[in-house]
Amino acid sequence: MPVTMEELVRLCKSRGFVWPSAEIYGGFRSTYDYGPLGVLMSRNVKDAWWRSMVQLRREVVGLDAAILSSPKIWQASGHLENFTDPLVDCRSCKQRWRADHLVAGEDGALTCPSCGGQNFTEARPFNLMFKTFAGPVEDEGAVAYLRPETAQGHFVNFANVLQSEHLRPPFGTAQVGKSFRNEITPGNFVFRTREFEQMELEYFVPPADAGEWFKYWCNERFEWYVRLGIGREMLRLRNHEQEELSHYSVETADVEFDFPWGWGELEGIANRTDYDLKAHAKASGETLEYFDSATGERYVPYVIEPAAGVARTMMAFLIAAYSTDEVGGEPRTVLRLHPRIAPYQVAVLPLSKKDTLVPLSQEVLALLQPVAMCDYDDTRSIGRRYRRQDEIGTPLCVTVDFTSLEDKAVTVRDRDSTTQERVPIDRLAEVVTSRIAW
Ligand code: GAP
Repeated sequence: MPVTMEELVRLCKSRGFVWPSAEIYGGFRSTYDYGPLGVLMSRNVKDAWWRSMVQLRREVVGLDAAILSSPKIWQASGHLENFTDPLVDCRSCKQRWRADHLVAGEDGALTCPSCGGQNFTEARPFNLMFKTFAGPVEDEGAVAYLRPETAQGHFVNFANVLQSEHLRPPFGTAQVGKSFRNEITPGNFVFRTREFEQMELEYFVPPADAGEWFKYWCNERFEWYVRLGIGREMLRLRNHEQEELSHYSVETADVEFDFPWGWGELEGIANRTDYDLKAHAKASGETLEYFDSATGERYVPYVIEPAAGVARTMMAFLIAAYSTDEVGGEPRTVLRLHPRIAPYQVAVLPLSKKDTLVPLSQEVLALLQPVAMCDYDDTRSIGRRYRRQDEIGTPLCVTVDFTSLEDKAVTVRDRDSTTQERVPIDRLAEVVTSRIAW
């Protein structure tokens, strides 16, 4: 049975993945806080992305640009003018909605999700950028924006990257960080929030090769989700219709996931052409082009951009991994997460709290901590501890029992098959490392 949103939200809350922010005050406008397990898992999502986009490549380098940014950036990029959603007010209950998210009722007329009314104001463009003031004076000269995408930080640093790294197209810059959008209707748990993390690659290519690289990245990004455990049947690539394209894109495809409420975007891959580099070159007066000293060729590269969201990706991994089965006649919930995405890779479980087992259990923990993120749990019965680790997706449980004191071996239990194997402690780190390999 596929997991429902209610079950997912309950699991996230009770096991410390994600909590509504400011919950003791009744929550705060669709913001969320990440608990101990959420923080581990979202780090793993970002690390897996970084590994595939930067670590395993020669031609991609990292960046970390400022969140608080100059209005000049957003003027030049077109976001001040174009980064809008169509806003309508329901004339009956006065609630505000994104016009393109309203659904038609049986009679074909758009219907207010709150009161059922069908009388709306004309749609007007609403800019999604958060505006604030940098410094003590709140006047026009002090206006700053919280970035709505990390991408512009790549473009405004294009010349810096070229100067410091001596790269030649195709090459890329990768960045993971927070972005902010004043979404009209956030919702579906962490799917659409006003504060969120993005993982963006800007891949600079010779203009003539942009079509090929666009296809390459669509395939590469789709396969990344598959490699990390999401079934192909839960994923699809969808090309944008002309009228859906962002103001900077000539071609976009979304990697979509089959969420409990239907297909939703995990990541967009866009061909941004030379739109951004040319816009910033024009506005700043700087030269933002590539010069090939070997051939004497000079051009403004095109940009292929795979842009993904951390929270959506984490949610998709949780949904795809969620399953229920029976072990020894007892029902269990198990998250069949990829070992590198699971919050903990290993749980060390002393069979009993008796003092005699403590030193060896802690020795085993210290042995494994350098190679894996470990939980340590000596509470309750061993059966209940296995259930808890299954429910949070820990792939391996290492049990230290009284025989361990004699034979210097421990039991390694596999989450998915529940099979157990006796492993000598002096081989444990090696066995665990091979079982959680990428
Ligand atoms: N630089 C291009 C860009 O920002 P986007 O499709 O608007 O493209 C990229 O955003 C990804 O960021 C989305 O696919 C999604 O995963 C994530 N994202 C965008 N808006 C979001 C929101 N309000 N809440 C959570 N994630 C969001």
